[in-house]
Amino acid sequence: MTLSQTYKQVRQQSLDFCKHLQVEDFAIQVVKFASPPKWHLAHTTWFFETFILIPNVKNYAYFNSNFNFLFNSYYNNVGDRVLQANRGNMSRPTTNEIFAYRDYVDEKMQEFLRDLTDKKIIDLVILGLNHEQQHQELLITDVKYMFGHNPIFPVLHEDFNLVNVKNTNLESSNINGGIYEIGYQGNEFCYDNELGVHKVYIDDFEINNYLVTNGDYIQFMEAGGYADFNLWLDEGWSWVNNNQINAPMYWHKIEDEWYYYTLSGLQKVDTEAILSHINYYEANAFAEWKGMRLPTEFEWEIAAQQLDWGKRWEWTNSAYLPYPKFKKENGAVGEYNGKFMSNKMVLRGASVATSKNHSRATYRNFFNPLERWQFTGIRLAK
Ligand code: AVJ
Ligand code: FE
Repeated sequence: MTLSQTYKQVRQQSLDFCKHLQVEDFAIQVVKFASPPKWHLAHTTWFFETFILIPNVKNYAYFNSNFNFLFNSYYNNVGDRVLQANRGNMSRPTTNEIFAYRDYVDEKMQEFLRDLTDKKIIDLVILGLNHEQQHQELLITDVKYMFGHNPIFPVLHEDFNLVNVKNTNLESSNINGGIYEIGYQGNEFCYDNELGVHKVYIDDFEINNYLVTNGDYIQFMEAGGYADFNLWLDEGWSWVNNNQINAPMYWHKIEDEWYYYTLSGLQKVDTEAILSHINYYEANAFAEWKGMRLPTEFEWEIAAQQLDWGKRWEWTNSAYLPYPKFKKENGAVGEYNGKFMSNKMVLRGASVATSKNHSRATYRNFFNPLERWQFTGIRLAK
């Protein structure tokens, strides 16, 4: 596929998901971390405009020069912006204007791609497409959050449950200790945080090829897992108590039975399906209860070929830190991943909401350990 065809296809995927939305859905932000669909559509467009078109197209005419302030997410190198918590306060520009913005930038991009040969700019376009794919996953998880916190529990789509997926490989692997190479070694796209191949020493370990199920987690809940401080890290224990947490996000107990909100509506929890929507502290407490632990991100990468992965983002026991040879690029692109390398944990794998062709064994996702609105899961090791 040519870059221009890939561009068209990836951009279209964002719109395809939005076909399930109504106009009222596009502008709402119910919590700081979940952006409105309209914002995602505009921000990914802004990325191409700001990093590709403005620096490279002579006399580029802005669609609207206010959009840099509205749709810059976090790039200090690109100037001031709307506070993240205020993204849902704007009924204008309208959703239709954002669709027109997308069309405008897509047309300029297609023109630009026609004679593009500069390798560095091509790589930036590819970064923009991977960025759009990350936002496609966020679109799904943010809409789930918005609908899942609406008392009528709207159905996005009858065939779009997403959470009821099962394990296919019920074995565990024993991996021999030794010196292994970590980091991306291929010739395709990867993020800067995967680069700088380096050696790590790993002891012998055992890792489950499968993930924890809802049924497994219910056992932990029924055994008093949320009430036993000995299982919890301190920040997690405070969170459980301050918020009276007793189940994963989206779970509701109705007449003694567990239900969860899915994008196909409220459903009875499928005990055989793989657990989702737990944070790092819940994952850690569950592992503690089982007498096991979470794998490190290095163990995960070394074992990846043996694992059944791609259904959940899997919490690891590794803090999100730069690899020893990490090189941060100059300017705005250097802000993409590098400045978040503190107070976050690494997740490995990919989820049911991850876009096609947007996962690999070296991919390092990262979130604050308290967050659980992504499709997260638990894999155990010892
Ligand atoms: C890698 C998923 C944590 O959500 O901020 C989006 C993805 N980076 N735009 C995030 C991302 C820039 C990122 N995560
Ligand atoms: Fe972004």
